[in-house]
Amino acid sequence: MKKLMAANWKMYKTVAEGAATAAELVGLLDGRLPADREVLVCPSFTMLSAVAPILSKTPGCSAGAQNFYPAGQGAFTGEIAPEQLLDLGCAYALAGHSERRHVLGEGDELVGRKVTFGLGAGLRMILCVGETIEERRAGQVETVLARQLEKGLEGVLGTATAGNLAVAYEPVWAIGTGEVAGPAEILAAHAFVREKLVALLPTEGASVRILYGGSVKPDNAGIIIRLDNVDGVLVGGASLKADSFSQIVLA
Ligand code: PGA
Repeated sequence: MKKLMAANWKMYKTVAEGAATAAELVGLLDGRLPADREVLVCPSFTMLSAVAPILSKTPGCSAGAQNFYPAGQGAFTGEIAPEQLLDLGCAYALAGHSERRHVLGEGDELVGRKVTFGLGAGLRMILCVGETIEERRAGQVETVLARQLEKGLEGVLGTATAGNLAVAYEPVWAIGTGEVAGPAEILAAHAFVREKLVALLPTEGASVRILYGGSVKPDNAGIIIRLDNVDGVLVGGASLKADSFSQIVLA
């Protein structure tokens, strides 16, 4: 599997800014993207129709969504359905990002429904998991990751494959703080996620990609991406500028 180098633009940029960043990014990567790397950009819904065509014209690049509601269609004011994302050229979607869990109050059960529904609708899903600093200090990293993985993947046995599912380990204390997890912490958490994936998805778990996220920058990406069981990165702040994200993609 290719390493998945993913950008999460969160709630930043206008349509014009997003389109310009995407165009600059594909320009910087043109002819330089290694065969074993894949690029994904997850912008706000508002600019998906402008950004997705720019990325999908470039081999190895695609667009994704940061969120959706797990239903086909209906009376869900303010929500977006997977079909509507596919219609805009989205290939992937995130579920369970820490900001959705901790700022917007999403629980494990809803996150699990999103993963199941998204896969069923034809989206490739990235399930985000990770502990808070309090949970880490209390020695609960594995308990938290186990619960988030069990609930997040409850409905996907038989549907999830190494091609349509990835997991992003993003320790909450490392997101947007500049405090990156050290190699030992990443290795330990990713080994645990791998073990759990193999237990939950016996035929596919060994090859489902595990991404690291949390203050990934051009100067630490090269080390992180080469650690055991690190099959990609999910980048927030450092993905907002094409120059910085392209350095991460090529690190
Ligand atoms: P960060 O965000 O790179 O700004 O820490 C990562 C994420 O939220 O996915």
